[in-house]
Amino acid sequence: MQEASTTTFNVYEIRKQFPVLDQSVNGKPLIYFDNAATSQKPSSVIDSLKGYYEGYNANIHRGIHTLAEKATQAYEETRKAIAEMINAAEEEEIIFTRGTTEGINLVAQSYGRSFLQKGDEILISGMEHHSNIVPWQLVAEQTGAVLKVINVLDDGSLDLDDFEQKLSEKTKIVSIVYVSNTLGTINPIKLLIEKAQTVGAVVLIDGAQANPHLHVDVQELKADFLAFSSHKMYGPTGVGVLYGKRKWLEKMPPYQGGGEMISDVSFDKTTFNEIPHKFEAGTPNIADVIGLHAAVEFIHEVGIKNISAHEDELLNYGTSLLSDLEGFEPIGTAEKKASVISFNIKDVHPFDLGVMLDAKGIAIRTGHHCTQPLMDRFNVEGTARASFAVYNTLEEVSSFVDALKSIVSKLRG
Ligand code: ALA
Repeated sequence: MQEASTTTFNVYEIRKQFPVLDQSVNGKPLIYFDNAATSQKPSSVIDSLKGYYEGYNANIHRGIHTLAEKATQAYEETRKAIAEMINAAEEEEIIFTRGTTEGINLVAQSYGRSFLQKGDEILISGMEHHSNIVPWQLVAEQTGAVLKVINVLDDGSLDLDDFEQKLSEKTKIVSIVYVSNTLGTINPIKLLIEKAQTVGAVVLIDGAQANPHLHVDVQELKADFLAFSSHKMYGPTGVGVLYGKRKWLEKMPPYQGGGEMISDVSFDKTTFNEIPHKFEAGTPNIADVIGLHAAVEFIHEVGIKNISAHEDELLNYGTSLLSDLEGFEPIGTAEKKASVISFNIKDVHPFDLGVMLDAKGIAIRTGHHCTQPLMDRFNVEGTARASFAVYNTLEEVSSFVDALKSIVSKLRG
């Protein structure tokens, strides 16, 4: 798929496509800065869900009637669009899941549980989301493999020396986040993959926060697996994507048993369907997969490079405005960052900030962001986090900083 040739970026036109943004919250215009938790949805996505339910709701891959064929075609068109977006070699390498979490669990339980042996090592990093920690703890327990963790440096970047030290012939799986949901750090994923593959490890990329912001090309990166979610990239909730190289997916056993994933069933023996269907047991989330196609189209029309550039501008502006706020303690100041500002204010609980900002119509996230080990690493209980998306404006960033300054000065009396 070619990048759209947009050279100008009109954020006000983009905002018109997101009905939810046009509202007041607590008497103030909504400023939505919780995009790393979930992004808002354009009308095209909402309309495509409605279009499916009103026009051609039917189960897929099963019926020969007209509606079933229409639904099957629309569902498979999304697979094609996703394959193009991430430059997968084949559509069959795209599996629909419930989200990033399910994609990682699928790889841990199907690939990991089949191929890991006692003493083998799984390497993750200290900035992983719980969804890229716990599945590996479970499979380590089941197989006797050992979980190792790469250190995070004070600026929130990955300790590459520690990575090299911990990587060895024993490392069989490296599972690493591309963009940290808490710090915003963009990891040097291509380099990590190259090095991991020289010792024969397979690499899973947690792309939950990367795919909405960056162009991710699985062939260029030589990724073995990539998991990401629809709902963080302007698509519906409840659907995600797992990309896997054909050579691995074919060797892996099914993750769940049921309809669709079989080729033939008898009480003596069951044979399994081809990929990707082998990994899509049961009736899938048809409507939301179809809605995801509209989200891919939206990103394509705006252009992922334009989205990245706009979000960088918001990030740089916010970071510079906040730098003179008394007691501002940023967590995550790596050189390469996506549009996330995680911070604490000295002597102020992040929860209080969240509540007081909400009273001004500003939505941010507070807490541990499902990265408790990372909070321990930085010796904090939690942070306040503002995360930006394509529809946010410089004016919103400046209103947010003004609101924060007024809250802090009130709290300081
Ligand atoms: N992982 C999501 C976040 O960072 C929910 O908020």
